Amino acid sequence: MSQFQAHSSPSSSLNSSSNSSSNSSAGQVLLECKNLCAWYGAAQILFDVNLQVKRGEVVALMGRNGAGKSTTLKALMGLMPKKTGVVNFLGQDQSHFEPHDAARRGLGFVPEDRRIFSDLTVLENLSVARQGARKFPNGQDAPYWDYANLGKLFPNLASMPHRLGSHMSGGEQQMLTVARSLMGNPLVLLLDEPSEGVAPLIVEQMGEMILTLKRQGVSILLSEQNLHFAQWVSDRVYVLEKGQVRHHSSMQELCEDAQALKAYLSV
Ligand SMILES: Nc1ncnc2c1ncn2[C@@H]1O[C@H](COP(=O)(O)OP(=O)(O)OP(=O)(O)O)[C@@H](O)[C@H]1O
Ligand SMILES: [Mg+2]
Repeated sequence: MSQFQAHSSPSSSLNSSSNSSSNSSAGQVLLECKNLCAWYGAAQILFDVNLQVKRGEVVALMGRNGAGKSTTLKALMGLMPKKTGVVNFLGQDQSHFEPHDAARRGLGFVPEDRRIFSDLTVLENLSVARQGARKFPNGQDAPYWDYANLGKLFPNLASMPHRLGSHMSGGEQQMLTVARSLMGNPLVLLLDEPSEGVAPLIVEQMGEMILTLKRQGVSILLSEQNLHFAQWVSDRVYVLEKGQVRHHSSMQELCEDAQALKAYLSV
């Protein structure tokens, strides 16, 4: 038995019925920002960004290189030194929260630089991120992640519990950063370009993983440049250009809007 399984407890496994996004609370806004502006030094990068992530949906944040996708995720997480506007998470204004406060309340973040602890094993990387079980604002149990159900979601990680981070491929490391953020039992997960720079097989696994998380009730906001990937996994989309939201719609509507695709995404 692998240690992924050895650390599980039946009571802590995912309960698909209580965590299903197809319940009466689907559609509740979990994360939103209003008039979000952010700066690097004197340079303003975001201009009055408004967006919402509802319970049980996958939302794509698209735009060309430098459009402000990563900056938006960082600002939502409390990682931008200077910002204005309102960030509301689970009905509470967290505009002035520190990143660790946001994480403690159930906002997960996988940044684009994907740092893992290279001198720790897979299990140790996961252990350091462990947090307690959570509930949605309406009192329902949120998905709870432990070694057992993470092992099902990431079978390749489950097969190498004692592998050092430094001995893993880029794609495996990317999986580990996502798995590690799930150990915090996030209600909403911010994923910065999960399909970027990894082999097609890993991209496919990432997509399957996102869809599984959605089925189990985790809402996801993902920054993405790959239209095919975004179309596969996302329900709705916001498109940024020069730090402003220039388009928002269902993913399907964007894909049928040749003018918007050409104007904002060059496709
Ligand atoms: N640390 C920084 N200091 C100063 N300017 C920055 C910094 N990081 C990003 N920028 C600038 O902010 C703007 C938005 O960058 P951001 O990384 O948010 O874009 P992005 O949409 O994520 O792009 P990409 O698709 O390349 O990841 C760009 O003009 C970028 O040059
Ligand atoms: Mg980016």
